[in-house]
Amino acid sequence: MAASPDASASGSAALAHRHLLDLSTYSAAEITHILDTAQEFRAVLDRPVRQVPTLQGTTVASLFFEPSTRTKLSFGLAAGRLSAETVSLSKSGSSVKKGESLKDTARNVEAMKVDMVVLRHSSPGAPHFLSRCTDSVILNAGDGAHAHPTQALLDVLTMREHIDTFEGLTVSIIGDITHSRVARSNIQALTTLGASVTLCGPATMLPVGMADAMGVRTTTRLDAALDQADIAMALRIQMERQDEGLFPSVREYHAQFGITMEHLRRHPDLLIMHPGPF
Ligand code: CP
Repeated sequence: MAASPDASASGSAALAHRHLLDLSTYSAAEITHILDTAQEFRAVLDRPVRQVPTLQGTTVASLFFEPSTRTKLSFGLAAGRLSAETVSLSKSGSSVKKGESLKDTARNVEAMKVDMVVLRHSSPGAPHFLSRCTDSVILNAGDGAHAHPTQALLDVLTMREHIDTFEGLTVSIIGDITHSRVARSNIQALTTLGASVTLCGPATMLPVGMADAMGVRTTTRLDAALDQADIAMALRIQMERQDEGLFPSVREYHAQFGITMEHLRRHPDLLIMHPGPF
């Protein structure tokens, strides 16, 4: 059963994990438990007072060492609405700017009796590293091109509102797969829940070996990806993670991989998702 917004903090009983680092080791039951819990808590937003005491007495530190709008605001609002005390640090406003290591930052935060650390970092594995050198609970808010588990949980929660079951569902993820932590986390969540995933993009943006490693199909043809899909997720091109041009031009990319009104006319039942910058 999902935790209730009006009960004390006991929602972790059904979770085998202490941290949220990536979804690779989360079971379908655990993911479903998180989705059910999120759905329960979403109802709090419709109340006159959008706050419940679930995390009263808990301190949450947000360390955002990469830009963020949605994730940073979401975590801050969620922590506040769960009655946690919150503090936040950015790279430019912290001693990281003066050369402090991530480990030292975390140790200092921990010494101030912080219970949970929300970390966004450009280095893949930074949250995993932190989980090994502090006692705080670590929540990954996006680490390099590796994982963005909370974005994927939100995406599958959104999908669940439009479908009956993930079993037999086909989701096509289109775009810059190579640099997408959102694609990786969505693949983990979706395949664990029983959906099939097809990755589509220019060959230069489809990592070699990913199909076998993650149990997905790949195609460089947008029509093929849309023909077999119930849901299509369009990713943005992550220019900030590319040192060299992986496609000739934006115009060329759009000609081959842009989803147009014509695609929508041909696939009237297709659900299109665009999760936004990540
Ligand atoms: N979806 C997402 O991660 O957006 P931000 O980069 O704005 O946090």
